[in-house]
Amino acid sequence: MAFSSLRDYVKNLEARGDLVRVTAQVSAELEITEIVDRMSKGPALQNKALLFENVKGHSVPVLINAFGSAERMARALGVRELEELRQKLDALIDLRPPQGFGDTLARGGALLGALRDAGVRPRRVKPRNAPVQAVVETGTASLDTIPILTCWPGDGGPFVTLPQVITRDPVKGTRNVGMYRLQQVDARTLLVHWQRHKGGAEHERVALENRKPTIPAAVVLGGDPACIWAASAPLPPDIDEYWLAGWLRGRPVPFVDCVSQPLQVPANADIVIEGVIDPNEHRPEGPFGDHTGYYTPVEPFPVFHVTAITRRTDPIYPATVVGIPPMEDYWMGKATERLFLPLVRLFLPEVVDFAMPAPGLFHNLVLVSIKKRFPGHARKVIHGLWGLALLSLAKGIVIVDDWVDVHNPTEAAWQALGNVDWSRDIVIAEGPVDQLDHASAHSSFGGKIGIDATAKLPEEGHPRPWPQVVTMDPEVKARVDALWPDLDIPTLKGSV
Ligand SMILES: Cc1cc2nc3c(=O)[nH]c(=O)nc-3n(C[C@H](O)[C@H](O)[C@H](O)COP(=O)(O)O)c2cc1C
Repeated sequence: MAFSSLRDYVKNLEARGDLVRVTAQVSAELEITEIVDRMSKGPALQNKALLFENVKGHSVPVLINAFGSAERMARALGVRELEELRQKLDALIDLRPPQGFGDTLARGGALLGALRDAGVRPRRVKPRNAPVQAVVETGTASLDTIPILTCWPGDGGPFVTLPQVITRDPVKGTRNVGMYRLQQVDARTLLVHWQRHKGGAEHERVALENRKPTIPAAVVLGGDPACIWAASAPLPPDIDEYWLAGWLRGRPVPFVDCVSQPLQVPANADIVIEGVIDPNEHRPEGPFGDHTGYYTPVEPFPVFHVTAITRRTDPIYPATVVGIPPMEDYWMGKATERLFLPLVRLFLPEVVDFAMPAPGLFHNLVLVSIKKRFPGHARKVIHGLWGLALLSLAKGIVIVDDWVDVHNPTEAAWQALGNVDWSRDIVIAEGPVDQLDHASAHSSFGGKIGIDATAKLPEEGHPRPWPQVVTMDPEVKARVDALWPDLDIPTLKGSV
């Protein structure tokens, strides 16, 4: 099911009992964080989306934790469970092993073509028909009308935390949409925290190289949930995240021209902040209580000058709070993980599955199961992943055999710890690391580890026979299954 607006999604959440309307007055400064943090870390049954309808000093309601569970994230993207995302994309891809690199590229091209066709037959909406331009402010536009959250006590100010930041490549004109937090400096100024490996930062570099004085930009807030999530998807450069959103929704995203910038934005968004970014003007951004669970330090980032704010008559302001995991962003990353498995397999067909557990914050730990065929196979995959898009930032990669469930932390840890000879099965390398990594000696560059936890072959320096895993005879299992009801052992439904 595709949603036509954020309000539509809110109605759906509410109908399923998955949303709480909070009518008591709360402050956008710290209080919303404390409430949502308790929700994220509390019992699963209590974990709901929250709509704060009475935010101190504001008339616009704040929606938070709307993607904060596997089910909510799946529904937001039009599927019942996140695994369906993988199945949906698998269905688009030719799953036979590619015949060489050229074939891989050709299939990648065909896949993109399919995404583009499904997602984008650009549909332009006239401004008068665009809900997001029901109210237009230029000279009087003020960020103070938006309930921007101050998330943590040590933060450098209020931050927009769930935006779709749109820019175009200053030379090629291709669109990038990225979820990059923005710090509010005053009523008409923001700072854009696009990290150096991201699409927006590349547009900034191209602008500088080509002496472009400004980069037109738009910060889209709200709209349909597929668009919101798509901004966080690590698509290759020059591939429009709104194609992906269109493919997920099953119909293209309708666009409208901005009122003050040469850009198009989703017509069904809630609020759009239009402006220009000066690639020569950087100011200190931060600190910010980040998804690492630590404050990221103050660093210079580009300045965004507001030229207009447009909005619906009844906008909802979407936000998230990141901090010590698990929080809402874990589920957003989980959707990415499921959807990108077929894409990883396009380049590394031996990969069966992969998982990025919550405490690993995506880039610190990637667990990968592979169909091992030859000596050194796990090492081939480790190096392959370190060369693949944003997985190049992975600090720790653990490779296990195909039968291991990488989503079961106990099973994965059992294999990762028991199958390793620490003097033989480790790959230590140096390379790019996430800009938020605080442990590397230098910003964005540091050490990484790859662990081969597969069963070892003699050629890999293991001349002894590899032992057999202890498992029960299937016939005995079947007998006990039949016998179980007569045993009168109290059990929870689905647990045995
Ligand atoms: C809640 C949330 C907040 C994020 N904040 C940032 C951020 O401030 N800066 C950044 O570079 N990436 C941030 N990311 C990750 C990017 O959105 C992600 O890497 C995305 O792929 C960037 O788009 P791009 O590939 O077009 O650059 C965030 C992701 C999420 C889910």
